[in-house]
Amino acid sequence: MNVGILTGGGDCPGLNAVIRGIVRKGEREYGDTLMGFHDGWRGVMAGEFTELSVNFMRGTLPRGGTVLGTSRINPYMYPDGVDRVKNTVERLGIDAIVAIGGEGTLSCSAELFRVGIPVVGVPKTIDNDIGITERTFGFDTAVAIATEAIDRLHTTAESHNRIMVVEVMGRHVGHIATWAGLAGGATITLIPEQPFDIEEVCNALRRRHEDGRYASIVVVAEGAKPKAGTIEIAPDEYDEYGHIRLGGIGNLVTREIEARTGYETRVTILGHVQRGGSPTAFDRVLSTWFGVAAIDAVHDRAFGQMVALQANKVVRVPIADAVADLKYVNDEIWDTAKQFFP
Ligand code: F6P
Repeated sequence: MNVGILTGGGDCPGLNAVIRGIVRKGEREYGDTLMGFHDGWRGVMAGEFTELSVNFMRGTLPRGGTVLGTSRINPYMYPDGVDRVKNTVERLGIDAIVAIGGEGTLSCSAELFRVGIPVVGVPKTIDNDIGITERTFGFDTAVAIATEAIDRLHTTAESHNRIMVVEVMGRHVGHIATWAGLAGGATITLIPEQPFDIEEVCNALRRRHEDGRYASIVVVAEGAKPKAGTIEIAPDEYDEYGHIRLGGIGNLVTREIEARTGYETRVTILGHVQRGGSPTAFDRVLSTWFGVAAIDAVHDRAFGQMVALQANKVVRVPIADAVADLKYVNDEIWDTAKQFFP
């Protein structure tokens, strides 16, 4: 078969491992021709690709980023975008496209499947917010990076008697914040799913610091929101793809804590560090597993389906179902995290 592969949306550790998995089984077992489209759906519209081989993918398993490049461009942004995709598929004789991406890339894949494009999806995002799959690859790496940062911040916080606010990614969901907060022994964690009252946060910190010495870590997901009527936040900004642009909440929380409690407080915004570099062993395995499962799905002509992790097995689910709802932090893990708040 002629199989196209693309990586769309924000990059994520493990993308190369997925591509490598697809290429390995595609070339060796199925005898496929594998075409790696450049920069997500942009490359499909433009018909720009690199032919992939086992040889080409050598050495990429531990490498972050994506050898194909990525973008948030999708065909629905252009009046003739879908026709351009159809044209590439016909002209190159493509039998299937494996789309590796997050919510945006997969939603677009579900639409394209409806108009006849043979797509198989692979869920990617450090945010771990894609429904139906228990995990997306990249999440474990992001949590490991955030946890290491928190560990480091503990010692400097203790030396200076300071509060350290750490802002992590997660614009709609708080999976990274919750897991890294738990793993790093955070004092308090603030997530988008649970609007916070800054005065309650300050009271909790005051309780913890009653004995005079203090060193606290406050983990804040970038999409965390104060409860209505508590503190003013700047109006949301959007990027050119309509995605909310965040990144200010850590500064705001830091300023408010220092002003209200008098405790010296500093902020660290981890940002894209969480998306860069080498995937963890878990993410390398999950990515490879997803890649191999995706090429099997192609050969079973399971189009419109996405590979997903469920109960320790990789299964297939309709892409449209997977993107219907975001996966939020569940009550069990949140209750566990809350046990450790002061
Ligand atoms: O989708 C993953 C994500 O890392 C979000 O948590 C974050 O808000 C966003 O990407 C940042 O995207 P960009 O690279 O476009 O700034």
